[in-house]
Amino acid sequence: MVILRVVFLFSLLVLLTVSSAISVVEFCVADFNYPVGPAGYPCKNPANLTVDDFIFSGLGVPGNNSNPFKLGLTYAIDKTFPALNGLGISMLRQDIAVGGVVPIHSHRVSELILVIDGPIVSGFIDGNNVAYYKTLNKGDIMIFPQGLLHFQVNMGDKPEFFALAFVSLNSANPGFQTTTCSLFANDLPSNVIEKITLLDATQVHKMKELFGGSN
Ligand SMILES: *[C@@H]1O[C@H](CO)[C@@H](O)[C@H](O)[C@H]1NC(C)=O
Ligand SMILES: *[C@@H]1O[C@H](CO)[C@@H](O)[C@H](O)[C@H]1NC(C)=O
Repeated sequence: MVILRVVFLFSLLVLLTVSSAISVVEFCVADFNYPVGPAGYPCKNPANLTVDDFIFSGLGVPGNNSNPFKLGLTYAIDKTFPALNGLGISMLRQDIAVGGVVPIHSHRVSELILVIDGPIVSGFIDGNNVAYYKTLNKGDIMIFPQGLLHFQVNMGDKPEFFALAFVSLNSANPGFQTTTCSLFANDLPSNVIEKITLLDATQVHKMKELFGGSN
């Protein structure tokens, strides 16, 4: 009897511990009138929501690719699709023109890519500097583990070929950090960049011009 009671109490404890980690709301559409915190934005009043709050129609068209990477990106993340707030999921559309790339970048969470139109060379680099990369074709998916640097390159041979892929990430706000922009799109002094990258002054100047950096 005593053992049974102990088992019962233990089960109750486990149940309480588990259920305390479960959200008390079913959804929390972001209210941008308040600042974001570690768990996301505060919720809009559910009385004000309609089905349209749960639909995002922006992924049907290519993003603007007038940039050095020839990359069109469309984001379905918390900022553009507030219903994702708190749900740990997001999605992007990537249109890569010929000669274009998804530049090397990282984020806090993992990413799955689904190739709709390839070929795309796709890869990541792990903490031991091992590069895992391969040419992906239509229908292939690949996982990029959280936090690791990764990239994609359009390998099409026709001038008008656009590579197309959709990615999903396990955060509504993945925290994108693109290495090139981190180095060359701000006011970090050129002489510091030369030291920390071993690039020469001409190369750093060229990249600062291209990405709008100063100093
Ligand atoms: C949200 O709904 C409440 C209650 O129905 C209403 O009083 C309020 O004005 C609404 N707020 C907005 C921003 O529509
Ligand atoms: C595309 O982006 C470029 C560079 O930011 C901008 O000048 C241009 O107006 C944009 N085109 C459209 C159609 O938004």
